[in-house]
Amino acid sequence: MYGRNMERRIITTEVTPEEAKTEAGLRPTTFSEYIGQDKVKKNLNVFIQAAKKRHESLDHVLLYGPPGLGKTTLAGIIAEEMGVQLKVTSGPAIEKPGEIAAILNNLSEGDVLFIDEIHRLNKQVEEVLYPAMEDFAIDIVIGKGESARSIRLSLPHFTLVGATTRAGMLSAPLRDRFGVVDRLEFYSIPDLMRIIIRSAGVLGISIDDEGALEIAKRSRGTPRLANRLLKRVRDFAEVEHCGEIDYTIAKRALDQLDVDSAGLDQTDRNILGTIIRQFHGGPVGLEVLAAAIGEDSGTIEDVYEPYLIKNGFINRTPRGRVASEQAYRQLGLEGLLADSK
Ligand code: ADE
Repeated sequence: MYGRNMERRIITTEVTPEEAKTEAGLRPTTFSEYIGQDKVKKNLNVFIQAAKKRHESLDHVLLYGPPGLGKTTLAGIIAEEMGVQLKVTSGPAIEKPGEIAAILNNLSEGDVLFIDEIHRLNKQVEEVLYPAMEDFAIDIVIGKGESARSIRLSLPHFTLVGATTRAGMLSAPLRDRFGVVDRLEFYSIPDLMRIIIRSAGVLGISIDDEGALEIAKRSRGTPRLANRLLKRVRDFAEVEHCGEIDYTIAKRALDQLDVDSAGLDQTDRNILGTIIRQFHGGPVGLEVLAAAIGEDSGTIEDVYEPYLIKNGFINRTPRGRVASEQAYRQLGLEGLLADSK
């Protein structure tokens, strides 16, 4: 699903179907190819080696953080490094307890089951997961009323890798059943540069360091966006330039695409501009802000805000969101600073 303003956005972290294909081609399949997230990578690698040594399945893993940072990629790497199959599904795709029971029943010993957007599982489906995760079993109720009885079906040992943008929305019983919980962080600019250069190599695009740096700076700390911008800049390089991406063409293309020097796009600027102009810099509550810009509050919270907060454009206070001085400066609205509360 796309948020209301997301279809035309270059900065969106949602994946379009055609993009899923190229994204899959760019995805690293081993830890050695995976750039960034060093702490998560190191820990997971230890747990994987230990599980392999003991001939056990890996403990269940919960990955959380903003979209586009590599949760699906990591699930694939976990399966690859464990030498098992990866099965992929998502919270909203599983509607009934019978569907999750069928998925679990079809796994082979050791397999990795990846459930994206795991916070969106419904309660009945979640309840099937509890014994499955804890005891590798599902309880099936046979019959109705007084004659109803429950039989336990054992499952292969498997690893559930859950991904969510909102760890806070996971129920406590589900969260507690993950042995490994890792938060993915926004990527540094040098890491994004390395990802862009690697992706350019895979796609046969020629790019110099300055071109890669300019794209990295405007990628909101997110590899999915870095790869998307790389492909759009390539289009400009091929049509308006010699085909090679350098600083000049990267800057021109990104300006043309409305991605500013801090990686903010129109919706980001709309959020900041609305806080500043309409609410005198804040504080403003999330729901009020969402209504003012015509965007879903969940999308603001999951997709836009984490980057704006991380980079000091917005502060979250008990009374609502507040635009920072830096936000005024980024939008060229320093003149309104005196007006802020
Ligand atoms: N492509 C997307 N994410 C990546 C990562 N973390 N490392 C290497 N290539 C990537």
